[in-house]
Amino acid sequence: MINLSDKTAVVCGGSTLIGMSVVNVLLQQGARVFVLDIDDSAEAELASLGATFMPLDVTDDEAIKTAVSRIGEQASAISLLINMACSYDDDGFASSRQQWLRALDINLISMAMVTKAFHEQLQATRGAVVNFTSISAGCAQTGRWLYPVSKAAIKHLTKEMAMDLAADGIRVNSVSPGWTWSRVIDEVSGGDRAKADAVAADYHLLGRLGDPTEVANVVAFLCSDEASFVTGADYAADGGYAVMGPEQNKPAIPRLAG
Ligand SMILES: NC(=O)c1ccc[n+]([C@@H]2O[C@H](COP(=O)([O-])OP(=O)(O)OC[C@H]3O[C@@H](n4cnc5c(N)ncnc54)[C@H](O)[C@@H]3O)[C@@H](O)[C@H]2O)c1
Repeated sequence: MINLSDKTAVVCGGSTLIGMSVVNVLLQQGARVFVLDIDDSAEAELASLGATFMPLDVTDDEAIKTAVSRIGEQASAISLLINMACSYDDDGFASSRQQWLRALDINLISMAMVTKAFHEQLQATRGAVVNFTSISAGCAQTGRWLYPVSKAAIKHLTKEMAMDLAADGIRVNSVSPGWTWSRVIDEVSGGDRAKADAVAADYHLLGRLGDPTEVANVVAFLCSDEASFVTGADYAADGGYAVMGPEQNKPAIPRLAG
């Protein structure tokens, strides 16, 4: 049902597993896709999928301007912007000011700057923006301060963007993935998907990790005209992680009786 064939999309931070799935799903639905990322190692793979890669450090305003004009030379105005560049650098309480500033710069502030840079085009196309937040936005996690705080702020930034850009016909939503098979989980688990699924089972009602495509499908919906009345919303793609409270999914009352 989703048809993005008249859309041009920019996926910012689209060079790794989840990003590549987003790119792939958007391409499958007919969109033209540009990928902006500081990491150019996926350039050939992205090209083989049909996407155009351009290098960009999202914290560099001049480079953002250049990327916008380079895309403008190759395509009509963009109508979809997916903001998903992120840093996981986080030493919790021990983090330095420099680490705080860098993490917030990449994860949060750059979303606002990149969106501002494409604003005119998004307005012209009555486009849509999807910001990546996370389950980490909603609950405290041991030893992590920078990433969860940045993701919580992104949730609110999304509401502010939705409020102020609605008059321009631009919809802005966020997606909150749960644990998803991704570069970071691949690395931490030593590439052991079964082990990662088994650990994730304790935290996700559906008893496993999410697949990158399952997150990408939610992004594609939010980009599409099927979501024409959806703005300012945060969509969970988290296998039920966020609804699990301290009692987990285990009956608690019987413990009182026992
Ligand atoms: N992996 C998960 O389980 C998970 C869960 C919830 C949310 N998310 C979110 O999904 C998105 C993708 O996560 P991922 O795990 O695939 O992360 P990742 O680290 O694999 O990918 C992030 C991308 O951002 C790019 N990037 C980093 N700094 C940049 C900069 N200065 N300029 C431009 N690009 C830069 C990286 O090169 C990389 O391609 C992130 O926004 C993350 O917060 C991931």
